[in-house]
Amino acid sequence: MYETYLNNRFTNSLVFYIFLLLLLLVSPFLFVWELVNYARSCFRSKENLSGKVVLITGGSSGLGELMAYEYAKLGAYLVIIARQKPESRLEQVADRARELGSPDVLFMFADVSKVDDCRMFVNETVNHFGRLDHLVCNAGISPLNSINNDVTGFGPVIDINFWGSVYPTHFAIPHLMKTNGKIIVNASSAGVLNPPRYGFYSASKAALISFYESLRFEVSPMITITILTLGYIQTNMITAKYSRNGRLSAKSYFTQDMKDVVPTMAAEPCVKAIVDEIRKGATSITEPRFVKALFLIKYLFPQLHQFYLNMYFPSKNRKLKRDG
Ligand SMILES: NC(=O)c1ccc[n+]([C@@H]2O[C@H](COP(=O)([O-])OP(=O)(O)OC[C@H]3O[C@@H](n4cnc5c(N)ncnc54)[C@H](OP(=O)(O)O)[C@@H]3O)[C@@H](O)[C@H]2O)c1
Repeated sequence: MYETYLNNRFTNSLVFYIFLLLLLLVSPFLFVWELVNYARSCFRSKENLSGKVVLITGGSSGLGELMAYEYAKLGAYLVIIARQKPESRLEQVADRARELGSPDVLFMFADVSKVDDCRMFVNETVNHFGRLDHLVCNAGISPLNSINNDVTGFGPVIDINFWGSVYPTHFAIPHLMKTNGKIIVNASSAGVLNPPRYGFYSASKAALISFYESLRFEVSPMITITILTLGYIQTNMITAKYSRNGRLSAKSYFTQDMKDVVPTMAAEPCVKAIVDEIRKGATSITEPRFVKALFLIKYLFPQLHQFYLNMYFPSKNRKLKRDG
């Protein structure tokens, strides 16, 4: 029955424009609905994390480190994971988390892109603490790329950013089912907005968003999934130095910190807001909040989206260098 309409060029497009018109008509109500939801969320009760067990991957620096401190202040037991490196700060992070109030902190060196490592740290967590309440899949890397670089060098982006969340999730689910636990996935606004030079990173984060949006239906209501789609947050990851060191086989890097190029948010208030929302049972979190508006613009006005990406990136990133 629908085939006649869908195969006709005119009626096929008409559906889209009718939908746009409807959106325009209902948008005042959507606006009020958003405000009401926001107001309600301010009064929602927060999960008591005292005595709960939280496993955080990528806990040696940046957002993972700060999340460990926030959970520690709320009295949670912690397990933090990062790769074995001579300069790793994982042990210092564990000490600081104990000082801040965590009753017990376990730290383990493991590579999230290796399935056996992920099985090991989830099992060790449950053997040591007897339960698991929150799994925070945070470990990630963000190299710049260009299609002119050797594309075969970018496997680790998908291995760490995508599989590095999926593997621990797979092993953690049976334990989280028993505690009505939570999975927190640190995807990125890049997975929606696709900024230039972040093609592989954006693809890995888009894959995460799709995977966990789908997984939600399998594990809900026993497990709550919270997907983070953050904008630029002031950690090592958005510094020029990181783009140079963490660029895998890419030959491009920024000579400027991203905070000098695009609007960025400080990491501490961002993490406080994230943990607060997780405790209220949020299923998606975007910080800074204005990034949500960019998501709408991308879908409703794609030309405008391309315009500001062109404005921010190529012009300001004349400071982008290419080696070789
Ligand atoms: N900063 C931002 O603007 C921003 C925006 C959106 C999303 N995010 C996401 O937030 C997450 C944290 O990033 P960040 O900004 O806090 O950067 P960061 O300071 O570089 O933190 C990355 C963490 O991941 C760990 N890690 C990397 N590869 C790993 C592996 N194979 N196995 C285990 N751990 C690994 C790192 O530890 P070792 O290197 O010591 O192993 C480090 O602890 C990432 O997933 C990132 O994509 C960041």
